[in-house]
Amino acid sequence: MEKEGRKEGAAGKIEGIMEQRGKRKGETNIAAVVDFLLANARLVLGVGGAAVLGIATLAVKRLIDRAGRPPDDEKPDKSIPEGWEELGLVSASPQLLRKGLEGVVIKQLTAASKAQKGPKPSTVSEKLKPEIKRVQLCVTLQEKLVQYYQNHVALSEDDVSRVKQQALEICTELQGFLRAKQPDMPLGEMHLGGSLLDGLQVVAANHACLLVPLQIEDKFWTLIPGEETILSNPQFWMVRRTNLEYFPRGRSFWDKFIIGGYLSSKVLVNTLNKTVMESMNWPALDGMLECTVRPVMGSQELKLEVHSEHGQLFINILPTIIVNDVILTAQLEVTGNFDNLWYQSFYTSETNKLADLDDADCGVRKRCLKTLKAVCRDCPALRKLTGRHLANVILHLSEKESDWTEAAFADRFQQVISELIGYLEQGCLPGYFNKVVNLLSDCSEEEIDDIGFTLYCAVSEPEILLQT
Ligand SMILES: *[C@@H]1O[C@H](CO)[C@@H](O)[C@H](O)[C@H]1NC(C)=O
Repeated sequence: MEKEGRKEGAAGKIEGIMEQRGKRKGETNIAAVVDFLLANARLVLGVGGAAVLGIATLAVKRLIDRAGRPPDDEKPDKSIPEGWEELGLVSASPQLLRKGLEGVVIKQLTAASKAQKGPKPSTVSEKLKPEIKRVQLCVTLQEKLVQYYQNHVALSEDDVSRVKQQALEICTELQGFLRAKQPDMPLGEMHLGGSLLDGLQVVAANHACLLVPLQIEDKFWTLIPGEETILSNPQFWMVRRTNLEYFPRGRSFWDKFIIGGYLSSKVLVNTLNKTVMESMNWPALDGMLECTVRPVMGSQELKLEVHSEHGQLFINILPTIIVNDVILTAQLEVTGNFDNLWYQSFYTSETNKLADLDDADCGVRKRCLKTLKAVCRDCPALRKLTGRHLANVILHLSEKESDWTEAAFADRFQQVISELIGYLEQGCLPGYFNKVVNLLSDCSEEEIDDIGFTLYCAVSEPEILLQT
């Protein structure tokens, strides 16, 4: 139900654009669709190449379906002009549609390149007349982006420091309680981490992350890279108990958390849930901290909900193992039914790399990332795209694009969108720090289509993304 509503929302926006462009229903509407499609195809093809045609095809198919839908009891095919049947694009399979589309796009591109020399474009393209006002678009887009960032994306420093302070106070209480309850548990200092700390949080300062570092003994525990586990998923590592013949079970505190020879993230999370979340006297904290803190029930995450006069705040508690450069977290919401998997997080490397690159050239990568994070947060069709996806695209793009100056903000913003479409089209976004990780692997085909469709529609009309 909700999902349907979301789709309508995204498609509704697109339809709005269509209506602005094509003044009448029916033929003009279809022409507007094609006009729009080709304008976008040309912009995207320059970057992502023909790979983008699949998503373009989907966009056309949906737009045709919508355009061809009878307002009331009219027959659907009445409003479809004959030209479309000739092209074989109406009610065609995606494959056929794609073929037809390729033809149209190639004709159109050839015609465009010949246009200056004189000969008139073909009948199809004559009808379509795509207009690209890229330069004009960028001037205003840049201004709009700057405004959007200032008014909507960026957090006030007061908010950030207040929320940090609140999270730190809760952190101190948790740590004290845990130490009293489990004095032998070898834990490092619990601390604040994540986007709030790194200046990457957007729109509202309403979530924080507390990292709980586990101290595991090198001689007892070995980290097994994801590819070498039975699941052979590069994102999920395992932590094996070793040297049991010399150091029998019980020598390490963490031996209590073993399942089948491995340190279990699930047992650990459940234990922390029991010893802290379920047994802390939360109401006793209320007066002290001037807010209400309660564990979130029915969640797979260790999560607290905080209410104060300033509003709501969520705090995630994340058990973490760090050995050399490898950072593993216990996140049952991503490791699902597997009791022994640990998620390898590249968040720190990605965030540091972006900051270093920006520092070196006074770049706007982080601002670009935050703007897109806000866009994806606010647009239901894009909600599956997280800071992680966006940061990786920006890191990849930084390899081939050197101009990240203030003046290039709008260009890079649009380029990130085009690049994303390219990755979605291939169904694969390789991790920047580990190329074998596909960051789109947890998106269904339908979700990828939805994201691709929305982004494709935003290529020539990026303003649709900046609605607040
Ligand atoms: C912790 O326990 C509560 C209630 O017993 C439960 O609702 C919640 O889902 C548990 N959290 C985790 C992370 O297991």
